[in-house]
Order: sequence, then C-alpha cells, then structure tokens
Amino acid sequence: MAGIVIVGAQWGDEGKGKIVDLLAENADLVIRFQGGNNAGHTIVRDDVKWKFHLIPSGILYPGLKCAIGNGVVIDPKVLTGELDDLRAKGIDLSGLRISANAHLIMPYHMLLDHAGEARLGKLQIGTTRRGIGPAYADKAARLGIRVQDILDPKILRQKFETALAEKNRVLELVYGAEPLEIEQLAERMEGYAVRLRPYVADTSLLVERALRAGQSVLLEGAQGTLLDLDHGTYPFVTSSNPTAGAAATGIGIGPTRIDQVIGVAKAYVTRVGEGPFPTEIEGSAQARVRELGAEYGTTTGRERRCGWLDLVALRFAARLNGLTSLALTKLDVLSEFDEVPVCVRYRLPDGSETDEFPAHQSDFHHARPVYEILDGWRDPLDGVEELAALPAQARRYIEYVEAALDLEVSMIGTGAERERVITTRALAGIAGGP
Ligand code: IMP
Repeated sequence: MAGIVIVGAQWGDEGKGKIVDLLAENADLVIRFQGGNNAGHTIVRDDVKWKFHLIPSGILYPGLKCAIGNGVVIDPKVLTGELDDLRAKGIDLSGLRISANAHLIMPYHMLLDHAGEARLGKLQIGTTRRGIGPAYADKAARLGIRVQDILDPKILRQKFETALAEKNRVLELVYGAEPLEIEQLAERMEGYAVRLRPYVADTSLLVERALRAGQSVLLEGAQGTLLDLDHGTYPFVTSSNPTAGAAATGIGIGPTRIDQVIGVAKAYVTRVGEGPFPTEIEGSAQARVRELGAEYGTTTGRERRCGWLDLVALRFAARLNGLTSLALTKLDVLSEFDEVPVCVRYRLPDGSETDEFPAHQSDFHHARPVYEILDGWRDPLDGVEELAALPAQARRYIEYVEAALDLEVSMIGTGAERERVITTRALAGIAGGP
C-alpha cells in the first residue's frame, strides 16, 4: 500500500506538477484533493508545453487513472474546456474520474470574487478572481451546488432557488449587479452535465480500493502551505487547506492510509498576490530571479514576487505537513549568483530572534530575515544528472537545507524539462517503496 501526498511547501508555484508528473510514472492513480482552477501548472514533454488547471497532469500517461477529489472546487466551464482540449490532442480520457461530491464554481462566485476584491480596495487579497473563495464559502454555508446536483434537473432547480434567493439579493443590493435567472443557469449547467456525467464517480471508494489492492496512489495538493486557510498568512491565503492533513478529507480516506508526504519547494521563494513576505529580495536581484525563473503566473500571468530561500518558513511547512522528504526545484535559477543568501532566523520587532515561524500575525508581518550567505556556483547545471556531478557549492546548498530542516532532499530540479530532475535515490523508493 502506498498513499503519497504531494504538497507545496511555500506559497504555491513550487513546481508540484512536474514532481507529480515524474512520480506518476510509477503510480496507478493520481487524485487532486483541494483548490480549483486558481492552480495551474505547465508540463514540458518532448518540447510540447501542456497547461493544466484542474485535471492532474498524470492524464498524459496512457492507462493511469486520474481523479478530482471531493475537496476540489470545479468550474465546469474550465473543466469541460480542458477535456475538449486534451481530447483534441488525442489524449485518452477514459481513466478520468470526478467526485460526485465536489462543489462547483458558479458564475455568481466569480462575480462575487471580483466584487469582493474591488470592495476591499487597498486591502485586497490579490485573489486569482476565479471564484474560489465564494465557492468554498457556499460549501461551508451549505448553499453549494455539487457535481451530483447538476445530474438531476429537479434537485438542481431546488438548489438554485435556495442559493439564488441569497446571491441575487447580494448582487443587486450590495454590488448593484443584475440578478441571475434560475432557468438560464440551470440549462447551462445541464449542458455541462451531459459532458461530465461519464466521469462522475465515488472517488473515495476508488482510492480506497486502489490502496487495498496494493497500488500506488498520488494525492496531489494545489497552492502551498503558507496559503493554507488555517495555518497560512491569513487573510492573504486561499480558501482551502493545501496542507497534507486535508488530503484525507479532500479525498475521503483515513489519515492512516497516507504513507509518505513529499513537500515541494523552490530553491528560492515566490509569492503572488498581497501579503507579508520576509525574504522578498530588495533591488535589482529580484527582477533577475524573476527573469531567470520565468516567474509569471500560469493562471493569471501576474508577476510573481521573488525572495531568497526562507528556512524558517520551510521548517514550519515540514512540521505542519509531517514531510517525509523534500523536492527542491529550480536550483538552476540560482546559478547566476556569486552569493546565495538563505534566511535562517527572523528578527522580531522586540529585537529577539527566532527560528520558529511566529504564531502571531504582527510578529510575522514585521519579521526581518537574518541571512546566512552561502557561496554561489556560477556554473550552469545543464546536463547534470546526478548529485555527485553538481558543483560543490550547489551540493553544499542542498546539504545546508537538509541539515537546517533535518529532512532529506530526495529530488532536485535543474531545469524546465521533465528529465531535468536529479533523484537522490530510486523513484520507486521516494514514492514509498523500501
Ligand atoms: P484565491 O485562491 O484565488 O482565492 O487567491 C487567494 C490567494 O492565493 C492569492 O494570494 C493568490 O495569488 C493565491 N493563490 C491561489 N492559487 C495559487 C497558486 O496556484 N499559486 C500561487 N498562488 C496562488
């Protein structure tokens, strides 16, 4: 049995897609457990770029099952668009399953996301404006529309009546927007239902059965630990839990089914949207990292803010997720620098220093990074296929991270193409084998 969770250990965009893609080679099933199309990743295979927002990239492997778990919020327009696109490119979709219990993002969720951000003005969160927060809010308020609801016209209209009674009042009275028509919305959803119906399944049972049969299942998270609704830099967070604990509820398996938790972190840090970011680089080096790392969002195209590696935050991520190993991506981006700072402690407003992530928001908002300056390597990492062939300073960088976190770095990303990942032991071993 091997249930392997893959989570982002920073603020998202760590390159999880690529790591999942690599591990999927030895897996039987890949399933996403939270988030929605606020996520996005690009996979480069044989010089072809693939962009995914909802469907796990494992779909590119013939015969591998891919699923979207109940914890994900699905925009049916985006999902059907992604299906059409993959089908047009000749990808076999017969192994795809979608949880009947996943909630749907409705057009009013998007309107409310836009309107909410506009209302916050300078205090805005910088959401992806994909309707993620309002959809999760409705799930908690028990006003949500689930995948299974659109398969039954009578239930769908009942649910819309309840939901729109509230949404239309908010849209009209608070935002001065046009109310939405139940019938129009229901018809649109029924159009999606026809296309999604063949894939709808009890994905919780699917995963349980796979695990019982001794298969290897990848449980794929979106976003990252510091965007976690409970543990991240609230309110500058997403509206779900990207941490490993949520994999159990977002899929419908017990936590005892999880064997490994692999965290994915960049060799530096990026953040999109607003919110505190202690190691954000000052001066021109930030733009340099952005250019070298092509740090622009897959989903929104926004410039990502760039910072030096933050070991305080990463140790926090290791703890919250119970990481069993770390994949460190984009090490090649740092090849241009003579010196590479890593943040080892925070200096707090009262002058004290800590290597633990501050529990109080004011401490974190005012934390100043204390850096250890490591030597850069100045050598490109092209063609480096094993740990021993890395420049000595790059190896030292990895060892430094391992010692600071007391955690093994099991994979090292050295470029965009899928083969440019150094694995420190056999992939099967990283993914739960002996
Ligand atoms: P939301 O998830 O669209 O509500 O956005 C909330 C916060 O999470 C914003 O700061 C977004 O930029 C951030 N966010 C959401 N999804 C991602 C992601 O996949 N990568 C990086 N940041 C994300």
